[in-house]
Amino acid sequence: MLNILITGGNGQLGSELKEIKNNYPDYNCYFTDVQDLNICDKESVKRFINKKSIQIIINCAAYTSVDMAEEEFKKADQINHIAVANLSKIAKLNKIKLIHISTDYVFDGKSKIPYREDDPTEPQTVYGHTKLMGEKIMKEINPKNSIIIRTSWVYSIYGKNFLKTILRLVKTNNQINIVSDQIGTPTYAANLAKLVMDILPKIKNNEVQLFHYSNEGNCTWYEFATEILDENDIIKINPIKAKDYQTKAVRPLYSVLDKTKIKMFYNVKIPNWKHSLEICKNRISAVKNF
Ligand SMILES: NC(=O)c1ccc[n+]([C@@H]2O[C@H](COP(=O)([O-])OP(=O)(O)OC[C@H]3O[C@@H](n4cnc5c(N)ncnc54)[C@H](OP(=O)(O)O)[C@@H]3O)[C@@H](O)[C@H]2O)c1
Repeated sequence: MLNILITGGNGQLGSELKEIKNNYPDYNCYFTDVQDLNICDKESVKRFINKKSIQIIINCAAYTSVDMAEEEFKKADQINHIAVANLSKIAKLNKIKLIHISTDYVFDGKSKIPYREDDPTEPQTVYGHTKLMGEKIMKEINPKNSIIIRTSWVYSIYGKNFLKTILRLVKTNNQINIVSDQIGTPTYAANLAKLVMDILPKIKNNEVQLFHYSNEGNCTWYEFATEILDENDIIKINPIKAKDYQTKAVRPLYSVLDKTKIKMFYNVKIPNWKHSLEICKNRISAVKNF
């Protein structure tokens, strides 16, 4: 039996890991979130991993409020960068396998072709900058048998996300405006959770490896929103330009991730985004009072 610590366990990815943990009887999973284990508190994390004899950490904890980060650099930096440094040091010292999650927002969005792991990074936001600092420090400290997975446009039945926002807006609006000139790929957190659990035994390396993972395909936010609607929804979705939708943090115009490396390395198949979206929508419809 291997003991796994899952930080940020109440977030989207953490909650999806909770859903599938029973499919992996070889692992004993400890789910924590900021209330019980703040990843910025190095001593508490040390105590926890010693007490529970943790052998693997899946770090799902993050500061993910992209717009608020523009005004809260220090907080975002503590969680997305400094805490990752602490986790990496603890992992290295205790020979713990560390799985850390990063973001497509490390790129500037100027590409026209999917981003590979070794493409130059140029974050345009505080959130992207702090996540990139987290990646860099983890690579520098270099805990063995550890990986970073960059993902994009994450949604699930849990937490706040684009899918749930659209489903809510559909109920109360006749029409909505959605950006149609930013291209990316949605990622169903349940697919990412399964991927992480499936590859755990295969992660063996002397240097931290970086991978990209999202669902297959790509779309604009407008196409994503359109796909969320059902035949009987009467709402009208108007495509608008990103420049006409002001946010504190500027989103990349293009952030499709190239997943060739993870597919080859771990021999994994990735579902198409439309297929996964349908599954998630069905799960949401099955939940009363959503
Ligand atoms: N969501 C996306 O679209 C997206 C896109 C690309 C990459 N990612 C990355 O994917 C990973 C998982 O994202 P997600 O969508 O599952 O995030 P999420 O739903 O925001 O979950 C993050 C969890 O971490 C918790 N947390 C915050 N600060 C903490 C701390 N100091 N100690 C312990 N827990 C803390 C949060 O609690 P509170 O809610 O109370 O703060 C939340 O429960 C993150 O690394 C994120 O950067 C996400």
